Amino acid sequence: MALYAIGDTHLSLGADKPMDVFGGGWSGYVDKLRAGFAEIDPEDTVVLCGDLSWGMSLEQAREDFAFLDALPGRKILLKGNHDYWWTTAAKMERFFAENGFSTLEILHNNCRLYGSLALCGTRGWFYEEDREGHGAKIFNRELIRLEASLKAAGEREKYCFLHYPPLYQGYRCQEIIDLLERYQVSRCFYGHLHGGSHRLAISGRQGGVDYDLVSADYLSFRPKKILD
Ligand SMILES: [Fe+2]
Ligand SMILES: [Fe+2]
Repeated sequence: MALYAIGDTHLSLGADKPMDVFGGGWSGYVDKLRAGFAEIDPEDTVVLCGDLSWGMSLEQAREDFAFLDALPGRKILLKGNHDYWWTTAAKMERFFAENGFSTLEILHNNCRLYGSLALCGTRGWFYEEDREGHGAKIFNRELIRLEASLKAAGEREKYCFLHYPPLYQGYRCQEIIDLLERYQVSRCFYGHLHGGSHRLAISGRQGGVDYDLVSADYLSFRPKKILD
């Protein structure tokens, strides 16, 4: 039994936004993902750190969920900035049940358990959100969601999964980092950074938390094993 993480699968099997057009590492990315999951066993757990499907609704994302569900392992899904299909946890869980997607779970205002370890998280925050003009409202909601998730973990050891990086070269989201420190999160994984932005990523220990980038193109589409 092992724990893995990967973000930004950006699937488009039922919509028309395949990432192959970007070339480079993205050519043939669906096959690469399938191959990348080959080492995963059915009893393993994979946390998917947002930007999972380009589908605009659950219906449009159905083929992408079918693809993810057919891959080995239990998958825990987190919201990214491109997951427009995201709706309430109750609706998503009902949709998964109706379609027989039995390996997909939602991480949203809650925590999921992996043995005695708590898997916490939320989408997080990015400075570009400010350009939408309602930044503070979304930001505060994300802080509330993150704290709800961390509280749900109780005294367990906590890993935190975010879509947006809480820090990278030249930027720190102090409010999010403060929450990670206050709730003694030991490791934090994030996605969202692609291509040339990989060089901005910060990995390793900062304060009391160990950080790692797990966006799919950064990992060459192979989920990163984060715990045996
Ligand atoms: Fe992404
Ligand atoms: Fe993103």
